[in-house]
Amino acid sequence: MTKEELCRAAWAMLDRAYAPYSHFRVGAALECRDGTVFTGCNIENAAYSPSICAERVAVSKAVSEGHRDFARIAIAADTDRFTSPCGVCRQVLWEFAPDLEVLLYNRRGKIQELTLRQLLPYSFDSTALEE
Ligand code: THU
Repeated sequence: MTKEELCRAAWAMLDRAYAPYSHFRVGAALECRDGTVFTGCNIENAAYSPSICAERVAVSKAVSEGHRDFARIAIAADTDRFTSPCGVCRQVLWEFAPDLEVLLYNRRGKIQELTLRQLLPYSFDSTALEE
């Protein structure tokens, strides 16, 4: 899949977003090294804290289907600014894919390319538990 195709797959998930509280819809498309793509959208809740971001929905779908080997994620929002993953999502992505490429996609169809290493310096992971 091209970068543009992955970003468009994330964008298509805006239609599935359930965001009646923030009205901020987010879509994600997580690509595995074997080419499989898992999508996600944000799903909010009246109690607020059970809300989950699009990225973690995609990760949950992938891991629960037996996929953990992630190469890229595209994150789309209907804004001029690029929407960057929250800290919780960065940590969840790091667990499986420190070398992940991150593509941010805005409403103008522009792509900002980042890496998870750029987004989560001085990260915490299982190696810290070994001492
Ligand atoms: N949100 C995401 O789904 N992904 C992001 O990268 C940023 C924030 C969601 C969470 C909440 O449903 C809404 O956007 C506003 O924060």
